[in-house]
Amino acid sequence: MKMRVGVTGGTGYIGSHTVVELMSAGHEVVIVDNFSNSEPGVLDALEQITGRRPVFVKADLACPDQAREFFSAAGPLDAIIHFAAFLSVEESVRVPLHYFRNNLFSLVHVLQGMQSHSIPHMVFSSSCTVYGQPDTLPISEDAPLQPAWSPYGQTKQMSEDILRSCTASGGVRAIALRYFNPIGAHPSALIGELPYGLPHHLVPFIVQTASGQRDYLRIFGYDYNTLDGTPVRDYIHVTDLARAHVQALERMAGGQGREWEVYNLGVGHGFSVLDMVKAFEEATGLKVPYQLFPRRAGDVEKVWADNRRAREVLGWIPEYGLHDMMRTAWDWEQHLRGSGWYERNKR
Ligand code: UD1
Repeated sequence: MKMRVGVTGGTGYIGSHTVVELMSAGHEVVIVDNFSNSEPGVLDALEQITGRRPVFVKADLACPDQAREFFSAAGPLDAIIHFAAFLSVEESVRVPLHYFRNNLFSLVHVLQGMQSHSIPHMVFSSSCTVYGQPDTLPISEDAPLQPAWSPYGQTKQMSEDILRSCTASGGVRAIALRYFNPIGAHPSALIGELPYGLPHHLVPFIVQTASGQRDYLRIFGYDYNTLDGTPVRDYIHVTDLARAHVQALERMAGGQGREWEVYNLGVGHGFSVLDMVKAFEEATGLKVPYQLFPRRAGDVEKVWADNRRAREVLGWIPEYGLHDMMRTAWDWEQHLRGSGWYERNKR
């Protein structure tokens, strides 16, 4: 069944990759974004990859009037995939109110719009950060949630609570996808994570170090209780992640499942920071100089996913290995440099 899907934050990193997967599966897409962490050029790249230009509406969904205007301008929609949110753990600690206002108001306004326009399905962009530091690994969806370690994590937990209540009251069904650590870029190297300012995430920092933009990678913490002392995460390719959104949507539209469901999206293996440096060096033949630093505030020690539910229920199978993740990240960095992106976005 072909659907017309509203994608909030659809020019962002995970949003843009999901738009590609939706369009490739034959669905029609209406993107809404305010370019707070992306740019209009992403729409050209999406047209180049898919051969069609997605419909686009510029709006800030944290503003109730603009959210209402989006739903009127978009025309009839069968579902919403809601990505639009701020995502820096570190920034959220400095300016928590920005995070509560943006992430929670946007969600509430989108749910109000869905109610008034009778849009029945939502896929929500959640995070493994809701687990905090789990007591047992791999972590399954049924594990009790721990207190969040940052306001960013709190907004994801609160958003899930809001959705749980709204789906219980009827009228809307939702699936929350809890991402582990998305990395890499589309194999075309036309879309990827746009690195505004100093990268906070590991892989953008690794590629900028390899390309000579940074002198060395700072490894935050080498005294963790892990094999090599550095923290362990479950890194997943962004295209694999994107595909799961289409599968989640098709499950809901097919009338399967309950009104509220949650799935982990990770490959199911943990890799340390040093494993990641080694994988990048092997995949590209480049060196990544690094230095060991004290732990970063808010970092958990280790986390990786039990992904059986997504595999068994959604039929989702992650396909990219670590070396492919690294190669696509590197190709994207070269595309950015070749296109003059860094000159246009000088820090
Ligand atoms: C966390 C969340 C993730 C969420 C993301 C949003 C967890 C386990 N993961 O990612 O779900 O989407 O925030 O921002 O809560 N590192 C360095 N040097 C660097 C950068 C990172 O050593 O310059 C290390 C970090 O200490 C960490 C690992 O690399 O151990 C991954 O860090 P990062 O890429 O920032 O992601 P998380 O903080 O794990």
